[in-house]
Amino acid sequence: MNQAEEKLFRCLESVKKRTDFKPEVALVLGSGLGDYADGIRIEDTVDYKDIEGFPTSTVEGHKGRFVFGYVGKVPVVIMQGRVHYYEGYPMTDVVLPVRLMGLLGAKKLILTNAAGGVNFDFDPGDFMLIRDHITTAVPSPLIGPNMDKLGPRFPDMSEVYSVRMRNVVKDAAEKLGITLKEGVYMQFSGPNYETPAEIRMCRVWGADAAGMSTACEAMAARHMGMEVCGISCITNQAAGMGEKLDHKEVQETADRVSREFAGLVTEVIERV
Ligand code: 6GU
Repeated sequence: MNQAEEKLFRCLESVKKRTDFKPEVALVLGSGLGDYADGIRIEDTVDYKDIEGFPTSTVEGHKGRFVFGYVGKVPVVIMQGRVHYYEGYPMTDVVLPVRLMGLLGAKKLILTNAAGGVNFDFDPGDFMLIRDHITTAVPSPLIGPNMDKLGPRFPDMSEVYSVRMRNVVKDAAEKLGITLKEGVYMQFSGPNYETPAEIRMCRVWGADAAGMSTACEAMAARHMGMEVCGISCITNQAAGMGEKLDHKEVQETADRVSREFAGLVTEVIERV
């Protein structure tokens, strides 16, 4: 086993010592959406800082813990706070928590994030179902020795976001009367927002939203055979489309729609 793989399995053992909970669905909460985990039937929590070698999130407003519990009858593990590449961690650390949740038994992964709208049809407060992604602005999380225990060296990425799960999200949104946009997410490194030229570039490339997370996690999850879906909360328009960008607007929009978002996530988990 290589170093990154050893670290992953050490962290896994550390979590297993603290809980024997067996999740079916894993959920990653994006910025402004973290409160969702406080509202579920919690069975166990494990703080990231208590897991030896675990990358601990430094972003304000991110709690930094795994929450184990039930949404309806479904056993879930929730990441309340994720690790971002811009914090300075190598990509293998950024995706370690997602891999760990997969190794705990979660076969399905729901990723959420706050993202900037690149598509002119998107308004702040819209939800975008992720159809596909572009990651050319960040390194692949699969670079380095392959973790053979998890998956193949050259994994297929032709359906990262499962058609089946996308249909589940669409049905859930329709039932709740939520308008759901759909599009391609492009991951940038952050922490700076993009320039107007970068946003024009990614629009030409076919991106509809820009963010700093999610795609790398989706790739690591697909590598190990998890079924993945992703939902972006469009919190603002991207650079060059109107207002200057401000993290406060991102948080304010996420707060404003957090109840609706929570409803959608609950409905998706119960149907998935
Ligand atoms: Cl415009 N870009 C990126 N990379 N992340 C964001 C964003 C924009 N808006 C919210 N998060």
